[in-house]
Amino acid sequence: MVPVKRPEDLRSHQWYGTEGLRSFSHRARTRQLGYLPEEHLGKPVVAILNTWSDINPCHVHLRDRAQAVKRGVWQAGGFPLEFPVSTLSETFQKPTPMLYRNLLAMETEELLRSYPVDGAVLMGGCDKTTPALLMGAASVDLPTVFVPAGPMLPGHWRDEVLGSGTDMWKYWDDRRAGLIGDCEMTELESGLARSPGHCMTMGTASTLTAAAEALGVTVPGASSIPAVDSGHDRMAAAAGIRIVELVRRDRKLSDILTADAFTDAVTTVLGIGGSTNAVIHLIAMAGRAGVTLTLDDFDRIARTVPVLANVRPGGRKHLMEDFHFAGGLPGFLSRITDLLHLDRPTVSHDSLREQLAGARVHDDDVIRTRENPVAAEGGVAVLRGNLCPDGAVIKHIAAEPHLLKHTGPAVVFDDYRTMQRTIDDPSLGITADSVLVLRGSGPKGGPGMPEYGMLPIPGHLLKQGVRDMVRISDARMSGTSYGACVLHVAPESHVGGPLALVRGGDRITLDVGARSLHLHVDDAELERRRAAWTPPPVRYERGYGALYNDQITQADTGCDFAFLARPGKVPDPYAG
Ligand code: FES
Ligand code: MG
Repeated sequence: MVPVKRPEDLRSHQWYGTEGLRSFSHRARTRQLGYLPEEHLGKPVVAILNTWSDINPCHVHLRDRAQAVKRGVWQAGGFPLEFPVSTLSETFQKPTPMLYRNLLAMETEELLRSYPVDGAVLMGGCDKTTPALLMGAASVDLPTVFVPAGPMLPGHWRDEVLGSGTDMWKYWDDRRAGLIGDCEMTELESGLARSPGHCMTMGTASTLTAAAEALGVTVPGASSIPAVDSGHDRMAAAAGIRIVELVRRDRKLSDILTADAFTDAVTTVLGIGGSTNAVIHLIAMAGRAGVTLTLDDFDRIARTVPVLANVRPGGRKHLMEDFHFAGGLPGFLSRITDLLHLDRPTVSHDSLREQLAGARVHDDDVIRTRENPVAAEGGVAVLRGNLCPDGAVIKHIAAEPHLLKHTGPAVVFDDYRTMQRTIDDPSLGITADSVLVLRGSGPKGGPGMPEYGMLPIPGHLLKQGVRDMVRISDARMSGTSYGACVLHVAPESHVGGPLALVRGGDRITLDVGARSLHLHVDDAELERRRAAWTPPPVRYERGYGALYNDQITQADTGCDFAFLARPGKVPDPYAG
């Protein structure tokens, strides 16, 4: 028999149900909100944290979708309260929403802690919103369900099916190469993103919502449901029903977010050919859950899991809607059960094994069989070497194979704006063999590690048909991007990492097979260069940017704030 919480055991009882002035005042104010006592007293209070905003096309449907969550909560006997939280719109927020991931995590944590909340439903999906919400919630550790925003519908242009992000980069390069003109670009503007929902490639959004489902914090099959499908409403209602049950059974987020769950999430991210951004976010999320996850875990697991999701940009062809109808994440997971920890609980089942019973794949081209994978090994490799002592990553399955072992002379850009201004300058002498190096784009230098990592190919090379080159930076790369881009170089150049010491013409060797990135400059010369190096000026002298600069950790440890990542006690508001 599962123990069921009594009303007086609920956290919210401290606000509503005790003797004394405080509870009287809270009840009076709830009458002011228009609720009868029997509508809420003794019921689990469910906070619905909604990242809806007019500026976020990936979440524009969530305002409406929250109503379905509320429907589920009411029906199950709970009391839903919606909390608007800040939105992180990958498209619009500058210099990068990554600068604000930890701010949303803080907001999530403090809202859940300071209000009368028994359980939480988190609504997000556009890139950083998923890790931010889950990081904050993990630090509070209430029963929690995540409602993924869902992918937008596939893009269309003339006879082409378009992937958001991925095809934007592709056609922009075609335009720079003179292959298409303004007229085509205007048509593309209306075809690339044609409905609410997050990017429908296997970009950062789809990767992170899949990771959330693999962790076990969504209802089964939730992550790939197209945002505008009526199944998305039903999923949201199911999440509302589920959270009330979780509160009653006192199944906390920490019961779900175990070390095994994170291992399975890493396996999933690698097996779907997911975004490199997931490396940073999963390390940060695990940190909040008290689980140690390292870059080496990613590399080790990558060698055990094949890429089965044939979804762009890692896969060749399909988009998230195809993945959904091919069986979605349950179908994918059903193909790798031998690699998963099946005895761990999820928000919907006592074990993942139970949850996956009956899951199957309906299209072997979209979700490949183990005998016919998209790639034999997971899509992300972790590199080490004198250029990245604390590691770097590359999504090698999205790179041209001939570049995976390559030596070439460096062409160095100190910052993104200079690179943008000069990349097409013929006097730089860039050839297809050059190694493009961008620095000043890391956690502190960017700041926020903007997605600059897919440096543009110089125009004269594009015209010659060159579409990939080795590129190295301390930046991140959009999950919808592709190419032989070495990312997340740590330590970053801004704090004096070896990337700061590279000079034009230095030879660099990338060898993905050997997992190495080597700068062919001897240690004595590097020491001379280091002695002559001066740290860049502080970018933010005040405000959130200054806090960020003080507290941000490097990419290999997840870019959390040091004061948020560390363990320690936080008093309950009613414990004073
Ligand atoms: Fe929101 Fe791509 S812009 S997920
Ligand atoms: Mg993105």
